[in-house]
Amino acid sequence: MILVTGGAGFIGGNFVLNWLADPNAEGIVNLDKLTYAGNLATLDSLKNNERHEFMHGDIGDKELVTKLLKEYKPRAIVNFAAESHVDRSICGPADFVETNIVGTFNLLECAREYWNNLEGNPREEFRFHHVSTDEVYGSLSLTDPAFTEKNSYEPNSPYSASKAASDHLVRAWFHTYGLPVVTTNCSNNYGPYHFPEKLIPLVILNALHSKPLPIYGDGQQIRDWLYVGDHCSAIREVLAKGKLGETYNIGGWNEKANIDVVKTICTILDGLKPRVDGKSYVEQITYVKDRPGHDRRYAIDASKVERDLGWRPAETFDTGIRKTVQWYLDNPIWVDGVVSGSYRDWLQKQYN
Ligand code: NAD
Ligand code: TYD
Repeated sequence: MILVTGGAGFIGGNFVLNWLADPNAEGIVNLDKLTYAGNLATLDSLKNNERHEFMHGDIGDKELVTKLLKEYKPRAIVNFAAESHVDRSICGPADFVETNIVGTFNLLECAREYWNNLEGNPREEFRFHHVSTDEVYGSLSLTDPAFTEKNSYEPNSPYSASKAASDHLVRAWFHTYGLPVVTTNCSNNYGPYHFPEKLIPLVILNALHSKPLPIYGDGQQIRDWLYVGDHCSAIREVLAKGKLGETYNIGGWNEKANIDVVKTICTILDGLKPRVDGKSYVEQITYVKDRPGHDRRYAIDASKVERDLGWRPAETFDTGIRKTVQWYLDNPIWVDGVVSGSYRDWLQKQYN
């Protein structure tokens, strides 16, 4: 088995589906707290899959994590669990400190105790893979070179600061205790099962529901965009071949200004599902107040992972964004559950 944390979220959920699609891959124990961002509907297709065990719980729960490690003896831990939304971190940073920092600390400590008691091959093969973000590096100007693994950490939001802190803990557990860790720092993901608080799914769904498409500030902030399936393949590669204690930047070589991303989505929707009044979805674009402390530009230099491990993204932004828009049109049940909030009903039924 491998232990995946946060596997009911956007990237973790895609990773679990992607991993289990390989009949030769190990099974997964999936530990997720099911916060507002956790959605078991994403894992519906695994209901009768004996290689997938779902556990409702918190990475900060020492007793539970220790019990899971003892019982399932995982070959690796892949840590996706986090509070992940910058705007929410601005409104309420406490959960970010609790899960991203204290939770990761707890997971590291439980992993250390577990690994210390392993012997032979299981000890040799064990990996702790920490999934992190490019936002830890801070903000670039238009002319700065893209982030490499050597950039200093300059996080600017409570979210990125909490992720930076967790990266430092992971690094220290390698250097001090020898825990076999790898860390990946990835750019903005997009794709299926993405919760519509983030720019791309929000714009797709607001467009279809005749709502405004909110652009923060002047819309000229730049992000590097990576299709989530490519992030999953990169994690598999780093988990299999990454050098212990190393960090790898993962990116799509796709720098785009927010306004251009939104206009591209509008154009795709104009073709696939035209507005009844014949106008373009671009009409719904609305400039709104900027995010406080909004980072201007992120850009990833992903040449290390290509050079050392042979990984490159398979999707361009054009192919990935088209697939993504089509996915939201083709999956009304998942979308309706999220938009209506009914995806939370299961939680209430099960746990109240
Ligand atoms: P997400 O918010 O969609 O999912 C997070 C998942 O973690 C949810 O299922 C949630 O229920 C679970 N969770 C939260 N707190 C938990 C806790 N204390 N214990 C157990 N489970 C908990 O996030 P995502 O977009 O899938 O991101 C996954 C990881 O990838 C995060 O660590 C994030 O920092 C990182 N990342 C995200 C992006 C991106 O563009 N989304 C880019 C780079 C890195
Ligand atoms: P987001 O998807 O929240 O990811 P992150 O902040 O982690 O990069 O936002 C992507 C970019 O889109 C970011 O520059 C903020 C901007 N944005 C908007 O302009 N409008 C919105 O409604 C949202 C959610 C984001």
